[in-house]
Amino acid sequence: MSGPLVLGIESSCDETSVGIVRGAELLANEVASSVAAHARFGGVVPEVASRAHLEAMTPTLERALSSAGIELAEVDAIAVTAGPGLMGSLVVGLAAAKALASALGKPLYGLNHLVGHVAVDILDHGPLPEPVLALLVSGGHSQLLLVRDITGDITEVGTTIDDAAGEAYDKVARLLGLAYPGGPEIDRLAQQGNPKAIAFPRGLTARHDLARHRFDYSFSGLKTAVARYVEQRERDGEPISVPDVSASFQEAVADVLTAKAVDAARHFGVDHLVLGGGVAANSRLRTLMAERAAAAGIELRRPRPGLCTDNGAMIAVLGAQVMEAGRPPSSPTISADSGMPVERVLA
Ligand code: KG4
Ligand code: ZN
Repeated sequence: MSGPLVLGIESSCDETSVGIVRGAELLANEVASSVAAHARFGGVVPEVASRAHLEAMTPTLERALSSAGIELAEVDAIAVTAGPGLMGSLVVGLAAAKALASALGKPLYGLNHLVGHVAVDILDHGPLPEPVLALLVSGGHSQLLLVRDITGDITEVGTTIDDAAGEAYDKVARLLGLAYPGGPEIDRLAQQGNPKAIAFPRGLTARHDLARHRFDYSFSGLKTAVARYVEQRERDGEPISVPDVSASFQEAVADVLTAKAVDAARHFGVDHLVLGGGVAANSRLRTLMAERAAAAGIELRRPRPGLCTDNGAMIAVLGAQVMEAGRPPSSPTISADSGMPVERVLA
């Protein structure tokens, strides 16, 4: 395999991660998570995350170099998440990346975290077929993206009008008394539950909503419905089956995510779909998406679950793609952009 040797740094939320790729080949992906430090608060505390990034950055970099079996001086470029994400967390990764690029005299690519989530599948399944419709579902985003060129032509065709899918998982988990982050917990408990036990609502699927929000998502009504269900059972002194609530909630999320993704792919005449983001690790979403894509004659690409959640390899592989496409590197003085729009691949 060939291609540029790129080191990617990710620090947009609570994972400090350094990945190393050669073109589309994964050489290392080291992740240090500060999730345990946030667990008792039920969500990420920005100041705690920033400090954890500072402490973890150098050891994570060293681990990545040693597991890839390369020297820093061999690297062709430094890629880093420039946004979107938590400002204080992003600046730690950017400072490290700028220092490395300047010390090594190598180009710096400040990249979009969301696009990294889509690009990561290249490490598992090779070059992305383009155009491809991406279903990007993470803790902060739920979007349908029409990707004509992963290095510079991305259009958002749908988004959430309230909570992100992962946010809904985390909030529902909290009201069920489960640990943070809630996605993996609900996924696990749902295996023992009945997805048809409770008929939870499917947001923005009624006829009048489809007219305005055909490709958009909404999860806050679903979250409220779960809260009402739990309150009602408690008031009536009835037991709550956490596995049944988990499975029924998960089914509602997966149902809407996959139905709208297939509808959008058909509408835009795209016959490839790719999943990305932390929620793309969800077992039910992966299965239902595969069934519905196959039924619609759409080819589905799913990165392995370990590459769905935040990691440096996704930034490194996007960096390699951008470099190979001949895009000019970022300025050595770029700033973090906490609200970086998904259409902007490179800062
Ligand atoms: O992409 P990611 O690691 O970070 C962001 O960019 O937000 O996504 C984290 C989100 C969290 O909300 C977490 O609960 C969710 O992904 N998640 C899952 C699963 N694994 C992680 N949600 C559902 N099922 C999972 N197996
Ligand atoms: Zn992410």
